[in-house]
Amino acid sequence: MTGKTVVLIFDDLPGLYDVAAERLVYLAKKAVAGRGRFCLALSGGGTPRPLFERLARPPYLDQLPWSQVALFWGDERCVPPDHPESSFGQFNQLVLAHLPAPPGQVYRIRGEWEPAAAAADYTEQLQQAAGSGQPWPRFDLALLGMGEDGHVASLFPGPMSETESSRPAIAVTAEYAGRPARRVTLTPPVFNDARHILFLVTGAGKAEALAAVLEGPPDPARWPAQRIRPAQGLVMWLVDEAAACSLRQLRGEGG
Ligand code: 6PG
Repeated sequence: MTGKTVVLIFDDLPGLYDVAAERLVYLAKKAVAGRGRFCLALSGGGTPRPLFERLARPPYLDQLPWSQVALFWGDERCVPPDHPESSFGQFNQLVLAHLPAPPGQVYRIRGEWEPAAAAADYTEQLQQAAGSGQPWPRFDLALLGMGEDGHVASLFPGPMSETESSRPAIAVTAEYAGRPARRVTLTPPVFNDARHILFLVTGAGKAEALAAVLEGPPDPARWPAQRIRPAQGLVMWLVDEAAACSLRQLRGEGG
């Protein structure tokens, strides 16, 4: 069984981010009502910043059941938490620092460690968070971005390593943008187990990748975002018109 994919195209960025914030709050309330906890995997990068800024102020700040939120990261750059490139650091600065009380649980990837050690530590944290002998918790929502080359989290184009399907979290030391990536990432089986996945993709620079991922032939080695195919969960893409401009469905060509 394969989950459903929904693509929403926005002609204004504030509208896109409002819908993202509303969706996140809705899923948080639903998860807490049903299971007592909202397991949220966050992404780094610049695209989610306006969403995070919204979460840190009313009305969303007061609507989120923060004490029952368990925070995770889909990936992390191996830098200290106060480094400008740290994904934890970004969320900490934009959201956590503004909360009246800390969220229920924070499972941080230790970016200040060597990638292999941080991946091993995160693997243990995931198992602990899952309980009942499971290797990872089922995320209620995994927030994701996509790079212009189609990468997702820290899964980059190129041959897929065997560990991508056998481990929940792996160290990534391949070259990216001309230097070793030095990152830790969750792997496709973990993302594909999520109940909901929300991609935020904006800007003309991502148009080619978006069309290839959504409408091109399957080539997950070239377009890592194609590796995200939940068995049952819903994948929602919130994209702006610039990113969507190469989609056949936007140009009215069907498909
Ligand atoms: C990160 C994420 C990465 C990101 C994309 C998009 O950078 O932390 O690993 O997958 O979501 O590169 O980044 P932008 O949002 O900055 O375009």
